[in-house]
Amino acid sequence: MSTPNSATAHRSDDWDRYKMEYKNPHKELEPQEKEIAVVDAALRVLQESGVLPHTRYDHAKFLAHRKAVRELFEIPWTAISPRVQRLLYAINAIVQPPYMIAAGVFCGNTFISNAGAGVGPGACYTAKVLVGIEIKPAEAERGERNVRRIDPTGVARIVAADALAVVKDWRDPIQLLYLDADGSGTKGKGIYLDILEAGYDRMPPGAVILAHNSVNSAHKLKDYFACVRDPQKFRASVNVILDPEGLEVSVR
Ligand SMILES: C[S@@+](CC[C@H](N)C(=O)[O-])C[C@H]1O[C@@H](n2cnc3c(N)ncnc32)[C@H](O)[C@@H]1O
Repeated sequence: MSTPNSATAHRSDDWDRYKMEYKNPHKELEPQEKEIAVVDAALRVLQESGVLPHTRYDHAKFLAHRKAVRELFEIPWTAISPRVQRLLYAINAIVQPPYMIAAGVFCGNTFISNAGAGVGPGACYTAKVLVGIEIKPAEAERGERNVRRIDPTGVARIVAADALAVVKDWRDPIQLLYLDADGSGTKGKGIYLDILEAGYDRMPPGAVILAHNSVNSAHKLKDYFACVRDPQKFRASVNVILDPEGLEVSVR
């Protein structure tokens, strides 16, 4: 086994006290300047670690995206806190992936937090295909309805399928992979590693992988962490901890 790469963790000083209400995701939890400062600090660490090329994103476009989601999306619950919503948007706005896959998107809120940098009122680049995959047909339908209200073009879409099968069959490059699926039985978030391995050879250098629940599902992600922190396979990986859920951010 090789020596771990520059794997590191970045924690905001209040990550364990910053708590959202899953059924009230639009509630403001802190002043906007604080949210921006917390996310900026994380982006700087990602840049210093070599995960991101820079830290700049358009704040007004992000707010337009947030407003559209608040007004147009039906969200029964979500674990994406406002900080992480901003972080996901910013990472996508910086990486600008032509092809992005999000695995396990439930009602689509996680998906659009990523895809919102490429479609809708927050769009800041021209994307080719942004796809969210949800195994439960009813949730995929709801997610697709939600996404259509923001993106009439169809560049972003949600499909009802098994993310592992879709990634295995994928033929285009994958510049950004977002992982949030919850495997059946004892597998749980352990499915992240299966999906990552299935898509690894289509990820070009600079491809970014985001893994939600790096804190509250860490016990299921030991093998996943070992993989993304292996310098033979990934250039760098940072556990970004801004809330009790966490997001491991890795670059190929
Ligand atoms: C924990 S939820 C994600 C919710 C998200 N974190 C949020 O806050 O909105 C995980 C989702 O992954 C889906 N899922 C589980 N296994 C999957 C698979 N193999 N492919 C696609 N989706 C899957 C589940 O149906 C569920 O909707």
